[in-house]
Amino acid sequence: MSANNENNMSDKVAVVTGSNKGLGYIIVRDLCRRGVGVVYLTARDERRGLDAVEALKKEGLNPVFHQLDVTDKESVKRFAQHLKEKHGGIDILINNAAVITNDFNKTTFEDSVNVLNANYFSILTIQEYIFPVLKDNARVLNISSDAGHISNLENPYWIKRLTSEDLKLEDINDFVNWFLDSVKNGTLKEDDFVETGILAYRISKVALSALTRVQQKQVGRGISINSLHPGFIKTNMTKNSGFLELDDAGIAPVYFVLDADQSLKGKYLWFDKTEKEWTDHKLKIHSRMDIFMEHLKMNNKDYV
Ligand SMILES: NC(=O)c1ccc[n+]([C@@H]2O[C@H](COP(=O)([O-])OP(=O)(O)OC[C@H]3O[C@@H](n4cnc5c(N)ncnc54)[C@H](OP(=O)(O)O)[C@@H]3O)[C@@H](O)[C@H]2O)c1
Repeated sequence: MSANNENNMSDKVAVVTGSNKGLGYIIVRDLCRRGVGVVYLTARDERRGLDAVEALKKEGLNPVFHQLDVTDKESVKRFAQHLKEKHGGIDILINNAAVITNDFNKTTFEDSVNVLNANYFSILTIQEYIFPVLKDNARVLNISSDAGHISNLENPYWIKRLTSEDLKLEDINDFVNWFLDSVKNGTLKEDDFVETGILAYRISKVALSALTRVQQKQVGRGISINSLHPGFIKTNMTKNSGFLELDDAGIAPVYFVLDADQSLKGKYLWFDKTEKEWTDHKLKIHSRMDIFMEHLKMNNKDYV
């Protein structure tokens, strides 16, 4: 890391979505600790966001709060306008906000729509309104998951279409809508997926990692866009189970937005700071419910 890099820290403006708790909160903390000039801690709920800012202020850190519900177009527009007026542009955007399926083992239509709206369609809204305020050479990190690797799918048609060099937004939207229609019509086939636990979440993260590749091809201006599996972290989302302590979970995301080479573009990254080939179906690095359940039982004595 060059001294120059550290010197420029105080000029940078960073935004982290869904950062009132969990991984987003820790990323905000770590960006503040690294001396990034302005770090936006955003939350859909103002009270929860302000409480989180207060907690970091007690540590001597100084994040700035702004309301942001990623599923609410007006909220995204308001925030984008604020960023433009206040700073002209931003250097770092971390799309972290997400939800998981209500029931890990059951796929319902209503819940699937909710998960896809929060984890995938929201990113298209952010692309529309917040990408225009990205500065040249800005860095975007889409927080994906091991549930977002192509090896979560078994359907040959979708594997081929989504891993095509010529992938377009339309392909990803068709994939997501195929899934939602299958759930709605009761035509979902288990064989199309490596596992059916947290299925809508898997679909949302596969779509997000695919979208990252399309976004990178289109964005230009030296901007880098990557997706990251941040590890299996003890947060609310995992009912406090996992092998990564929350306190350490910011290391990889912060590395990728501050220290990694700017030439790293359109990749699928891993929490150990390596890159994994997203299009390689044979890698078999998909999310495994047996490991999830084992940790869940270890950390939640009451969980059956
Ligand atoms: N934990 C893991 O093991 C793991 C593994 C792989 C990937 N990930 C990914 O890591 C990211 C962070 O997850 P986490 O484990 O920290 O989960 P978490 O503790 O549940 O935190 C999720 C955050 O997203 C916010 N959020 C949800 N919907 C939102 C919306 N519509 N608008 C704005 N914010 C919203 C939540 O706000 P509220 O407090 O208002 O609900 C919360 O602040 C997610 O993208 C997740 O998919 C996590």
